[in-house]
Amino acid sequence: MPVITCIDDLKRLHRRRTPRMFYDYAESGSWTEQTFRENTSDFDQIRLRQRVAVDMSDRSLGSEMIGQPVTMPVALAPVGLTGMQCADGEIKAARAAERFGVPFTLSTMSICSIEDVAEHTTKPFWFQLYTMKDEDYVRRLIQRAKDAGCSALVITLDLQILGQRHKDLKNGLSAPPKLTPSTIANLMTKWAWGLEMLGTKRRGFGNIVGHVKGVSDTAQLGSWTAEQFDPKLDWAKIAQIKEMWGGPVILKGILDAEDAVKAAEVGADAIVVSNHGGRQLDGALSAIRMLDPILQAVGDRVEVHFDSGIRSGQDVLKAIAMGAKGTYIGRAFVYGLGAMGEQGVMTALEVIQKELDISMALCGKRNIRDVGRDILLIPEDFSGRWQG
Ligand code: GLV
Repeated sequence: MPVITCIDDLKRLHRRRTPRMFYDYAESGSWTEQTFRENTSDFDQIRLRQRVAVDMSDRSLGSEMIGQPVTMPVALAPVGLTGMQCADGEIKAARAAERFGVPFTLSTMSICSIEDVAEHTTKPFWFQLYTMKDEDYVRRLIQRAKDAGCSALVITLDLQILGQRHKDLKNGLSAPPKLTPSTIANLMTKWAWGLEMLGTKRRGFGNIVGHVKGVSDTAQLGSWTAEQFDPKLDWAKIAQIKEMWGGPVILKGILDAEDAVKAAEVGADAIVVSNHGGRQLDGALSAIRMLDPILQAVGDRVEVHFDSGIRSGQDVLKAIAMGAKGTYIGRAFVYGLGAMGEQGVMTALEVIQKELDISMALCGKRNIRDVGRDILLIPEDFSGRWQG
């Protein structure tokens, strides 16, 4: 087994082990992928301020996200088709998150169902909701998340319609994969993945298959979203869903200060500054550039979380120092999962924890709660003066 020292090591293994259509699904951004690329390259523009001769003993990364204790402020983001990166992927990721002490967020578009994940874990996880045209299905889905004891509802706001990812169309992305000459050729080189997949019954969209009527093709993410997702979702509907849920609500996919203020007004417990990992509006600014204006706009009216572009503990440190209360990793844990299953997700979390801990110390801080802007060197005009 190669020595894993960084998230990129896991990414290489993931690529080698997992069928191309699923690796590509995780690794894609929409259209030209400009926003996807800038989500990471803009992090590089922010620098950390090295401090010395500071007591660096007894360090702590523990904090809270929406009042729930976390070992470090890094949750696992909802990622569709996680159970195709590795057999029973959502269960494995949820178990790793539980062992580590960080939140796991189950996607509506998961392979393992809500009930399945609940049955194989002991602590509550968060459930991410896509709103569908079929209101009865949404009601039942929310009830299922309640029955499973989920401790937060994460409502995604930036995917009412799907941004185009060229590779998914070219690869004929589906779950389970459709057997064509080209997928068969690729699957033949991924036999370890295939053997594990043959050993599980979880190979379709577990929250959907058997729970909705009259849908032509539940295997294809593209056609499913086009047919079923609710293009009419608005703030009034969000308020209704919040009411229906009755517990903590996190609104994910906020990239604009005006929207952030509206999310605070609707009574969200937290918002996630995110552009869906560069998978939706190509040409949007990177999420890290938008974090500061959003923090300024909402003040302390709502807890602000961050995702899109985090691939290291240094990235987590930068987002937290800027003012986010929590962060999420999507691809970074998926690489681990695709590379080495549950242990790979643990490894991804450990890599990030170590990077975060040591970098925080080298900035002269011992406690993540004390990390603030004084450790950052941000280029002037980083958030830009864009003519609106
Ligand atoms: C779904 O959430 C996706 O980004 O594919």
